Amino acid sequence: MTDMRGRVCVVTGANSGIGKATAQGLAAAGATVLMVCRDRARGTAAQQEIVAATGNRAVELWQADLASLSEVRRLAAELLAAHPVIHVLVNNAGVMLETRQLSADGFELQFAVNHLAPFLLTRLLEPALAAGAPSRVVNVSSRVHSMGKIDFDDLQSARKYRMFASYGQSKLACVMATFDLAERWQPLDITVNCLHPGVIDTNLGGMPGFVKKLLPKADKGARTSLHLAMAPELADVTGHYFSGCKEAKPSARANDRDVRHRLWAETERLTGIA
Ligand SMILES: NC(=O)c1ccc[n+]([C@@H]2O[C@H](COP(=O)([O-])OP(=O)(O)OC[C@H]3O[C@@H](n4cnc5c(N)ncnc54)[C@H](OP(=O)(O)O)[C@@H]3O)[C@@H](O)[C@H]2O)c1
Repeated sequence: MTDMRGRVCVVTGANSGIGKATAQGLAAAGATVLMVCRDRARGTAAQQEIVAATGNRAVELWQADLASLSEVRRLAAELLAAHPVIHVLVNNAGVMLETRQLSADGFELQFAVNHLAPFLLTRLLEPALAAGAPSRVVNVSSRVHSMGKIDFDDLQSARKYRMFASYGQSKLACVMATFDLAERWQPLDITVNCLHPGVIDTNLGGMPGFVKKLLPKADKGARTSLHLAMAPELADVTGHYFSGCKEAKPSARANDRDVRHRLWAETERLTGIA
């Protein structure tokens, strides 16, 4: 196992499922782990479990609801003040929703949590990631990104909401932002990659309980995130999509540069980071 002592690692959505197993894996490797959780009670319970399981006391809890861009800004400001040097950011928090819901800012909730929040958090944490270079950003996307299409006429799925198409759009946006950022960050020593974690038994919506029970558990789902966060052989690998700890082919749409660049500009406008 890679020795992560002295490395500061942020994991969003760290109280449950794949994020919790990722936080635990990083803590087991000796990292200082900053768990970002929206619910303080659920976060504290997971934090205590991880400390007990790993013996690593350098596991901190940071509360933020990533469905609100002002909360993302507050979180980033507080993290930067407390940890001006960050080595790993795992954007893991995500939702899959059967019915259309809106974020605090009026965006479709999957688009807000799965794309806008990690985009903004990553950009705001850039100074700390640059200070920690060589550093890594790991974006948890999904194979379902291939069912998505960036619909600039209806980015918020207001006209038509179908769970897999809208979730797929948010995860395709995550893949596209990963590829763009890797190009834009070339001069910096910060890598950024994205992944499909597998189909895993977690609290994620969209799947009946009896199906979930048959699926692999979160520790398996965290393997690719941990690989991208820690593997020494990936130190210089950036701008790729992974599945099963191996580089994989993303959908052809993810490589459409015109759409990617238009989405980048639109995301900057929507998040107010431009
Ligand atoms: N499970 C799968 O088969 C699968 C497949 C492909 C991709 N993924 C992706 O893997 C990632 C992890 O999901 P999971 O399967 O582990 O599901 P999960 O158990 O539901 O975990 C999702 C995490 O995200 C957090 N989260 C959701 N909305 C949030 C918000 N507004 N602010 C802050 N945190 C928020 C959740 O917090 P709460 O506990 O408070 O809700 C939870 O900690 C997601 O990005 C998901 O899309 C999962």
